[in-house]
Amino acid sequence: MNNVTQNFNFYHGNDPRELVQTFGSPLYVYNERILRERCRDIINLSTYPKFAVNYAVKTNSNLSLLKIIREEGLRTDISSEGEAVAALAAGFLPEEMLFILNGVGAEELAFASKIGSAESQYDTLSATVSVDSLSQLETLGRVNPGGRIFLRFNSGIGGGHHEKVVTGGDGTKFGIMPEYIPQVKELLRKYDLKLIGINQHVGSYIEGELYLEGVEAILRLARQFENLEYIDFGGGFMVPYHKQNGEGPIDLRAIGKRLDAMFFDFAKNYGKELTFMVEPGRYIVAECAVLLGTVHSLKNCGTKKYAGTDLGFSVFKRPTVYDAHHDIDIYRDPARGEGRGHLHADELSASDSKQDIFCGPMEKINIVGNQCETGDFIARDRELPPLREGDVLGILDAGAYGYSMACQYNHRARPAEVLISQDGEVRLIRRRDTYEDMLANMQGL
Ligand code: LLP
Repeated sequence: MNNVTQNFNFYHGNDPRELVQTFGSPLYVYNERILRERCRDIINLSTYPKFAVNYAVKTNSNLSLLKIIREEGLRTDISSEGEAVAALAAGFLPEEMLFILNGVGAEELAFASKIGSAESQYDTLSATVSVDSLSQLETLGRVNPGGRIFLRFNSGIGGGHHEKVVTGGDGTKFGIMPEYIPQVKELLRKYDLKLIGINQHVGSYIEGELYLEGVEAILRLARQFENLEYIDFGGGFMVPYHKQNGEGPIDLRAIGKRLDAMFFDFAKNYGKELTFMVEPGRYIVAECAVLLGTVHSLKNCGTKKYAGTDLGFSVFKRPTVYDAHHDIDIYRDPARGEGRGHLHADELSASDSKQDIFCGPMEKINIVGNQCETGDFIARDRELPPLREGDVLGILDAGAYGYSMACQYNHRARPAEVLISQDGEVRLIRRRDTYEDMLANMQGL
């Protein structure tokens, strides 16, 4: 089996088992080099001079990662007031934020509209706000008459790795359908709003072809508005979640070429050089993290084999919520003699010697968490080397929608996060929750 973390030199000479001993299990481990590489891939996606990348902060909002992402020249897509507070704390300016809101109250719309204006504490250019319904447009008009705004449209194109993440096309809650454009124009006039940009998001984890179809569709729609300065095509770029089977990255170069052709052509015909934006989340952060956890129990139940771990869905939700696949690397204690016959380490460098390569028979096993629900699993019927208590597991590509969707179900503390810097140094970038943290907000005893 392909040991992915070793092939990518993910730990930069650090031993994952020692990381767990030092910082506790489970543990999110991030790699700075990979994060920076992914940022650069997307920044270089297009050669169009006014091309911008807004990182979707919902994907992972750890401040240390946000800071690196800003250093690499990305801006932000913000979906809540809280995300804006985090982005500000990481150094982003309001003018580097596009709020893409849906179903929010007047207060949040006012916060987003005023965050960079003279009326707020942040004395810079303001952020921009996008809404995606006629009723939110009316509310935005009331709280920020005369404002410069974006609108999110549903161009009819949708897709994604699971029905729960499809955000375009029929039957999703997102975007204004094009047939409402006359009413949109009426509301813009009523509140003297200036429509400076339109945006869409087709869905998460989509093929390049579908992304490009979405771009074409929203560009067609853009021609119905005269004074646009920005068009934002959303995120959704795929990442290779099956690296152990040899899956490689998507062909960004090919996608970029097609985007370039459309961007230059549109700008020429529109008569002005607009800014074109993309809005990736997963592509930027998924691959820079491994979630480490520990096998604590093994059992047979009927025909099924189970490995019980500390990787419950309070720590990592994607398999439970979307049946998502994540490759798993195994890190075994080399000092434990029994069963060593299945493993050999002769091809490994000294620093990787504890990341054994397995070459014996595999078995099908269900890897489950420690939460009190049957749906709590990390992998179903996965072919793996026979696991043992004490094995440390590495859940690969866990940086996107991993920690950001973690919770404290069963009063379990959310794990710590560490960052391996480009010179191999390990730094704690979020401490584990304490029980005091978890009790602190409760009152009334
Ligand atoms: N822009 C908007 C408006 C979005 O709603 C999203 C994600 C993105 C950009 C970034 O999409 P990405 O490049 O990451 O595909 N929790 C799910 C994914 C939910 C996506 C939500 N919106 C998962 O774990 O697969």
